[in-house]
Order: sequence, then structure tokens, then C-alpha cells
Amino acid sequence: MKISSSQMFRNFNKWCLGLATALFMTGTFNSHAQGGDLFKAKCATCHQVFKDGTGPKLYQVRTKWEEGGAKEGSIIQWVQNWEVAAANDPYALQVSKVKASAMNAFPTLTEEQVISILDWVDEQEETVATASIARGAAASDVEEESSLGWVWIIIGAMFVVIILSVGGVRRQLKNAEAEASGSEFDASMSYSDEFKLWAWKNRKYVGLGGLIVVVSIVVTLFLGLYSIGVVEGYQPSQPINYPHSVHAGEAGIDCRYCHNSVTESKSAGIPSVNVCMNCHKQIAGTGEQVAEIQKIYDAAGWDPEAGVYTGKTQPIVWNKVHVLPDHVYFNHRQHVNVGGVDCKQCHGDMTQQMETAMVMPVEELNKIEGNVTLSKPTMTMGWCIECHHEKEVAMGPLYKEGGSEYYNEIHRRLMSGDKSLYSQYLEDGKVTVEELGGWECAKCHY
Ligand code: HEC
Ligand code: HEC
Ligand code: HEC
Ligand code: HEC
Ligand code: HEC
Ligand code: HEC
Repeated sequence: MKISSSQMFRNFNKWCLGLATALFMTGTFNSHAQGGDLFKAKCATCHQVFKDGTGPKLYQVRTKWEEGGAKEGSIIQWVQNWEVAAANDPYALQVSKVKASAMNAFPTLTEEQVISILDWVDEQEETVATASIARGAAASDVEEESSLGWVWIIIGAMFVVIILSVGGVRRQLKNAEAEASGSEFDASMSYSDEFKLWAWKNRKYVGLGGLIVVVSIVVTLFLGLYSIGVVEGYQPSQPINYPHSVHAGEAGIDCRYCHNSVTESKSAGIPSVNVCMNCHKQIAGTGEQVAEIQKIYDAAGWDPEAGVYTGKTQPIVWNKVHVLPDHVYFNHRQHVNVGGVDCKQCHGDMTQQMETAMVMPVEELNKIEGNVTLSKPTMTMGWCIECHHEKEVAMGPLYKEGGSEYYNEIHRRLMSGDKSLYSQYLEDGKVTVEELGGWECAKCHY
């Protein structure tokens, strides 16, 4: 019997399908880690799984609450807003007195998300966890390894399948071999020689298969890198319940009035209390606003009754919302001024933000008109890279507005009309950031 190459190819197709399925499965496993990601983004600063820290350990905390006589669902409410839970459930009230420091409220977490966090916590194994979770943020490295571990196991399994099926066609190959050469088949041939012979005969497919395996590994590693430390939805508690919607929205105050270095420097800047006092000396607010605005007065040392500064000041310590690791260089001027990128593209529509600022998930950003549609989580490397690939460099009006000589020169050359300078870029009719070097590691990494 002769084994035709089309038959071989069919087998080969099956392996490819298997491999693709395997890679797809690892993707699915990763999405199950949502609870873990949320834990790391929102809870790990205060909580560990097995050890008390700023907050108590969370392992099997639901069981603890049940046994302690907490009301049903009260623990979910606790995570969303512990003050509400403490008001409704005596057990929660008791818990709220455990530590001197208070927990943050997480009003944006849904019930499912809270459950996924607590499920993830309960799934942890003590041995791994004490070594890794204890390191808080560093825990993501471990997860990286374990999800890559899956890839290795599956690829290993694929190889076993391949070897076995090779064994299966061994007989047929021998026959085919014997038939073709018209001789008896060589029984003394060792298994590995047979394999070599088979691999040589099918070198195209074996080579291609090998290539696919290698490429898959590289791609998986890269995707892993792209989603390191996802911080989407991060919204730390703030000393004052400051709503952007009232200021940048209703009152129509320009972003730059408060974030005044955003067009001139690397960082945007957070306003000092004096900036608030420019208006709030007059605006004491009504109803619920009074208590919040009083905090501005406390910070500025302003006595609204007497209308004098007492001199007793205390800074307002705003918690940073958007945080990039130290090894990354990001510059607002480069993006806002030179690149002409709107704040909305990266921070969402702050004029609608009724709560304090948060890292907007990319799905929210994609809903805003005029934004480039991106798929990678906000603030990850993949997000930066993807936009640099998609986004056209704004040219013309910006150049006339002045700004950095370095970029003006680049833009001048691009606009000079000498197409030979950039014909290679203009094949698709646009010049993207990537084409100007926005994908070079050193542009973003120190
Ligand atoms: C700013 C620090 C902080 C953050 C962030 C934080 N917690 Fe807490 N958490 C605490 C403190 C402190 C307590 C102890 C209760 C108290 O004294 O108010 C606590 C208590 C708890 C309890 C009850 C523990 C027990 O032993 O009964 C649960 C459950 C809990 N937190 C879940 C979470 C979850 C889930 C997150 C993330 C979404 C989170 N916490 C984020 C500080 C924090
Ligand atoms: C009246 C002053 C004021 C104006 C106007 C204002 N902001 Fe803010 N902004 C603040 C303060 C105070 C904070 C810190 C509190 C917070 O995080 O919510 C802040 C925080 C932020 C943050 C998060 C900072 C971080 O830590 O990562 C972003 C992003 C932001 N503002 C964007 C904008 C944009 C975009 C506009 C214009 C549409 C704007 N702001 C207008 C006062 C202002
Ligand atoms: C290309 C995306 C992008 C655009 C456009 C952008 N930002 Fe940012 N913004 C960031 C990143 C990334 C950070 C975190 C920077 C860091 O940690 O070094 C940040 C941080 C901030 C902060 C926190 C303080 C600081 O400087 O780190 C404020 C406030 C802010 N942005 C306001 C603005 C305003 C106002 C605009 C529009 C005029 C704007 N941003 C446009 C990406 C962007
Ligand atoms: C350009 C003027 C202006 C500046 C600067 C300003 N505010 Fe306001 N603020 C307002 C106005 C107007 C209101 C709305 C008052 C009302 O509803 O009667 C307001 C309301 C508020 C409220 C109550 C919001 C609510 O409805 O819950 C808080 C809190 C507040 N401001 C904090 C701040 C802080 C903190 C700063 C400094 C970072 C600041 N404001 C700077 C004009 C300003
Ligand atoms: C919404 C799109 C967008 C996102 C997201 C974005 N960038 Fe950019 N970036 C641009 C544009 C547009 C320019 C080009 C400015 C110009 O030269 O006209 C640029 C330029 C740069 C440059 C200068 C490149 C050069 O050739 O000199 C650096 C560095 C940079 N970005 C870093 C970052 C980092 C780090 C992040 C992620 C935290 C990021 N960018 C996210 C759009 C983006
Ligand atoms: C457009 C900007 C940009 C470019 C270009 C870029 N990176 Fe990054 N990189 C980032 C940002 C932003 C982060 C942090 C992501 C986070 O914290 O989630 C990062 C994180 C990383 C990390 C993870 C480190 C950690 O925090 O654990 C590695 C490794 C890395 N980059 C390597 C590279 C290499 C290699 C290249 C060149 C092929 C490159 N980067 C090009 C923006 C960039």
C-alpha cells in the first residue's frame, strides 16, 4: 500500500488544527484568571491571601463570615462599599472595627467580579501563594509562568501525539519504501533511523510543523508580555470626592487650568490646593458638597466664617491613578502637543466623570467618537504599541503652531513634498507613529 502525500497532508492538517485548538484553550484559561487580575489591581495593595497585612488575609473569608453569622450577600456589599454593609449588617460592623485603617470602596465592581476575586483567592495553594502572592504586584510574574506552563504541557502532548502517529504510519511507510525500491524491507533498521528517514521524506511538512510550533511559542510569549500588569479600571480612593463632571463638564473649565503642564512637559501635573481656592474661596457648596469642600478649606487653612487664612495648612494627598513602571518613558507634550492626541483617547471623557478619576478600560475608550479603536488593555505595552501602529502622525497645523524643533524638523521633511524621503511609508497612504520609530524599544524604555 502506498501512502500518498495528500494523505500525509491530511494528517498534518489535523495536527495543525490540534495545535490551534491548544493555543485557543490557553487563551480561555487566561480569561479565567480575571479574579486574579482584579485582586492584583485592586486588593493586593492591602490584602494577601494567607497573611494579614494592612487588611486581613482573605483565604476562605466567605466561610468565616458565614460561620460568624453575617447576612447573606453582605460580604459582596462589603467589598463594593463597606460603609453600607456595616450599616446593614452587625457582623460587617464588627469587621469594620478590626483594623485602625479603613478599606477602599469599590462601587464599580459587579457582584460577579467580587465573586470571581473571592473564588480566585480560595483557589490559591498555600505553598505557591506564600512565596509569590506575598510579593503583591510581583504575583503577575508567577501567573505568567503558570499560563506559559500550560502551553508547554500542551505542546509536549502534541509531540507525543505526533510521535505516536508516526509510529502508526511506520508500517505503511516501510511497505511503501519496499514497494518503491522493489526490495525487501530492511528489518535491521533502528526506530530512530526509520524516524529520520520518514522525517527526511516529509521534510517540507516536518519543517513547516516545527516552524509553526516555534512561531506559536514566540507569539504566546509576546502576548504574555503585552498584558503584563493590567491596571484597567483602577480607581484608588481619594482624600476629596472630586468630580470632574462638575468642573470640566458643567463649569466648562479647561483641563489645562488644573493640569497646566500637560502641553509643556512630560507630566500633566495635579493642581495644588491654591488652584481650588481660586474658586472655592467663594463657592462653599450646598448640602452634601459642604463637607467635601470643607476639606479644601482645612487643607488651605481657610476659615470661611471669619474669611481669613489661619496658617494651619495640610497638603491634599491625591493618590496617583495612572502609574507606569519606572523603566517606561511617557511624555504628555509629545502626545498632546506634537502628536495632537486628545485627552479622551487615553483617559476617556473626563467631562462626564462623576466619580474620581480611573484608568478607563479600553472598551470604554473605544465607545468615544473620534478615538482610534484599540484592543489591548489601557496602559499596557500592547496598548501603546497598537496605537503607534494605527495612529497617523498629525502633520501640518501642529507644525505651524510651533513646538519642539526636533519634531518640527521631522514633520517639515515629511511635508517638503520630496516623496522619495517617505515613499516607503506612504504605500498605505499614511505615516504612522511606528514608521517614525515609535516601535523602537529605546524610545519608551530607559
Ligand atoms: C486600602 C486598603 C484596602 C484595599 C485596597 C482593600 N481592602 Fe479589604 N480590607 C481592608 C481593611 C483595613 C480591612 C479590615 C476591616 C476594617 O478594619 O475596616 C479589610 C477587610 C476586608 C474583608 C473582610 C475581612 C475579614 O477578615 O472579615 C474583605 C472580604 C475584604 N476586605 C475584601 C477586599 C477585596 C475583595 C478587595 C479588592 C477589591 C479589598 N478588600 C481591597 C483594607 C483594604
Ligand atoms: C478644577 C481642576 C481640574 C480640571 C479642570 C480637570 N482636572 Fe483632572 N484632576 C483634578 C484633580 C484634583 C485630580 C485628582 C483627583 C482624581 O484623581 O480624581 C485629577 C485627576 C485627573 C486624572 C487622573 C490623574 C492620575 O493620577 O492618573 C486625569 C487623567 C485627569 N484628571 C484628566 C483631566 C482631563 C482630561 C480634564 C479636562 C477634560 C481634566 N482632568 C480637568 C483636577 C482637575
Ligand atoms: C497617549 C495617551 C495619553 C494622552 C493623549 C493623554 N494622557 Fe494623560 N496620561 C497618560 C499616561 C500613560 C499617564 C501615566 C504617566 C506616568 O505614569 O508616567 C498619564 C497621566 C496623566 C495624569 C496624572 C499626572 C501625571 O502627569 O502623571 C494626568 C493629570 C493626565 N494624564 C491628564 C491628561 C490630560 C489633561 C490630557 C489632555 C490634555 C492627557 N492626559 C492626555 C496617557 C495620556
Ligand atoms: C474654576 C472654578 C473652580 C475651581 C478651580 C475648582 N472648583 Fe470645585 N467647584 C466649582 C463649581 C462651580 C462647583 C459647583 C458648585 C455647585 O454645584 O454649587 C464646584 C464643586 C466642587 C465640589 C462639590 C462637587 C459635588 O457636587 O459633589 C467639590 C468636592 C469640589 N468642587 C472640589 C474642588 C477641588 C478639590 C478643586 C481643586 C483641585 C476645585 N474644586 C477647583 C468650581 C471650581
Ligand atoms: C492614542 C494613541 C497613542 C497611544 C495610546 C500612545 N501613543 Fe505614543 N505616540 C502617539 C503619537 C500620535 C505619537 C507621535 C507624535 C509625533 O511625532 O507626531 C507618539 C509618539 C510617542 C513617542 C515618541 C516616538 C518618537 O519617534 O520619538 C514615544 C516615546 C511614545 N509615543 C511613548 C508612548 C508610550 C510609552 C505609550 C503607552 C504608555 C504611548 N506612547 C501610547 C500616539 C499614542
Ligand atoms: C510605545 C512604547 C513602548 C515600546 C516601543 C516598547 N515598550 Fe516595552 N513596555 C512599554 C510599557 C508602557 C510597559 C509597561 C506595561 C505595564 O506596566 O503593563 C512595557 C513593559 C515592558 C516589559 C515588561 C517589564 C515589566 O514591567 O515586567 C518588557 C520586558 C518590555 N517592555 C520590553 C520591550 C522590548 C524588548 C521592546 C522592543 C521590541 C519594547 N518593550 C518596546 C512600552 C513600550
